[in-house]
Amino acid sequence: IDIKQFQHDLISWFIEEQRDLPWRKDADPYKVWVSEIMLQQTKVDTVIPYFDRFLKKFPTIESFAAADDEAVLKIWEGLGYYSRVRNLHSAVKEVVGNYGGVVPDTQEEISKLKGVGPYTAGAVLSIAYGKPEPAVDGNVMRVLSRIMLIREDIAKASTRKVFEAAVRELIDHEHPSFFNQALMELGALICTPTSPACLLCPVRDHCLAFEDGVQSELPIKSRK
Ligand code: ADE
Repeated sequence: IDIKQFQHDLISWFIEEQRDLPWRKDADPYKVWVSEIMLQQTKVDTVIPYFDRFLKKFPTIESFAAADDEAVLKIWEGLGYYSRVRNLHSAVKEVVGNYGGVVPDTQEEISKLKGVGPYTAGAVLSIAYGKPEPAVDGNVMRVLSRIMLIREDIAKASTRKVFEAAVRELIDHEHPSFFNQALMELGALICTPTSPACLLCPVRDHCLAFEDGVQSELPIKSRK
């Protein structure tokens, strides 16, 4: 794989074709964090109105930190997985109380926050802070399993590290935010779980699965 050409083809496509999503309007770490927590178990179309309402009610990290538990649960009502917002609220209070309201910008510090796993940490560090950190979720594993013909079982917890290593090799150090979001966008719009639109794919010339015609066999996911 020609990494420079791959980065260029992927990011150029993203800049042209990305969806106009509310959390892409600014790279405020607090807003990126909220969006990524919402998007973890919920579809984009469902998240959009919740995200807009959330930021109207709690426009700053300080305003959310100061909210009472009842108001916090109420704004999340209908999104489900309520531990997400309880953890987010607790972590935000920690950031306002102990970090002067500045979301930490290192993997080490941000990962100490409640509810911030490797995916969320990487998403905030890359999208808000421009750090070349991987943000690997299921979509990114699917896309990269095809491009790089990675046949590891994505149902295994230990497999995420294999994909993180792949992203570290491929990521554009000048544009980590575009790079990571482009992988997510490619997974959402082109490199879908079934019937991927390979003929429209901006990186099909770099895709080992497409070359071998095995894109529909990937990713490998055991039933567990
Ligand atoms: N899924 C997870 N994070 C996302 C993002 N930033 N944009 C679109 N879909 C996503």
